[in-house]
Amino acid sequence: MRHGLIGGRWKILGRLGKGGFAEVFEVEDTRNPPKHYALKIGVPGLKSSDRASGALRNEAKTLQKLQELGCKQLLAVLPDGVGEHEGVNYMVMELAGPNLADLQGAARDSRLDADTAIRAGQQALTALENLHELGWLHRDVKPSNLVLFPPNAQPASAEWRLLDFGTARKIRGPDGQLLPQRVDYKEFRGSSSYASVSAHLLQDLGRVDDLWSWFYMCMEMWEGRLPWRRDLSAASHKHQESPPNKDAILASKQRCQADLSELASGPNSLPAGLREISEYLSTLQFESDPDYSFLAFQLKSLNSASAKAARNAAQVSTGPMVSPMVSPRMHASPAAQPSAGPSDVPMGDREHPGNNWCSRGA
Ligand SMILES: Nc1ncnc2c1ncn2[C@@H]1O[C@H](COP(=O)(O)OP(=O)(O)O)[C@@H](O)[C@H]1O
Ligand SMILES: [Mg+2]
Repeated sequence: MRHGLIGGRWKILGRLGKGGFAEVFEVEDTRNPPKHYALKIGVPGLKSSDRASGALRNEAKTLQKLQELGCKQLLAVLPDGVGEHEGVNYMVMELAGPNLADLQGAARDSRLDADTAIRAGQQALTALENLHELGWLHRDVKPSNLVLFPPNAQPASAEWRLLDFGTARKIRGPDGQLLPQRVDYKEFRGSSSYASVSAHLLQDLGRVDDLWSWFYMCMEMWEGRLPWRRDLSAASHKHQESPPNKDAILASKQRCQADLSELASGPNSLPAGLREISEYLSTLQFESDPDYSFLAFQLKSLNSASAKAARNAAQVSTGPMVSPMVSPRMHASPAAQPSAGPSDVPMGDREHPGNNWCSRGA
């Protein structure tokens, strides 16, 4: 834990999250107590000149730009909340509640109740539609990048906000035209579990790829597991040394695209709405304008009694679904983190820079 005030102003109260390059703390504004915010700061030792530190600076700029453009489904950065502390960049933003991965981990057997799953899926889709309309991609859509807002809201009726814009990218030129796909592009962006097949193939990503990640996230909420993450969990339980590599994850995703029933956790449990979404996404190209209303309509169809009944039937053998109880501070300290869910399996979702699978940068 860090000590002292960050930037001479922000008092650390507890840690909210930690990635490879950055930590996020709940802080109090000592100039306006008792107002609480979230402060994201590069890990100690990260130099201002490091690529990851630059990514944090870019993230602050991207968020401020998106705020100016009127994007509502994100957490606002304070105008005077961007700075450098002991040579490391930081930014201060609105405080949110737990992330979706934490809630899934806290729910029995990682299955969220249907209302929470549908609500989170809808909110993430609206956020992506808005972001894409403004001419940006997120490129790292996943449960740990979706948080409840305000912090103590109830998951099934709350707003959900997208965060972590460190890999966001502008996709439209000055006249609003879509920039062409970069054909010589050969880098991985995103997180292995939620990356689209195109991301695995190191292609330049478009709106459809954000939507594939969104779809995998929705699938996981509905089914409790993704096939390639089921494998990861099994590997970690057996204390195997290495979980499936990205080639195995890619192969699993490709199998699921060819045969959708591979995605389901039980026979006949995959509802028509999720099938439709996957089939529709398979028809989209980099430059296609996605039909977000169609996706929203299909997601909403999961609300039907028959979809919920099929889901319940498939889950008889694995126990009931649990509506997560959200304590306002369940996310505020590492000690209070819920038990390990599917997102805690020992495989960094986001790989370190310097190898082919780096998710940062252009
Ligand atoms: N503004 C915030 N309010 C509450 N929690 C946050 C906030 N920002 C980040 N977090 C928590 O910290 C975690 C890591 O933050 P994120 O921006 O995704 O960093 P990283 O780039 O390391 O993934 C998130 O999954 C979330 O749980
Ligand atoms: Mg993140």
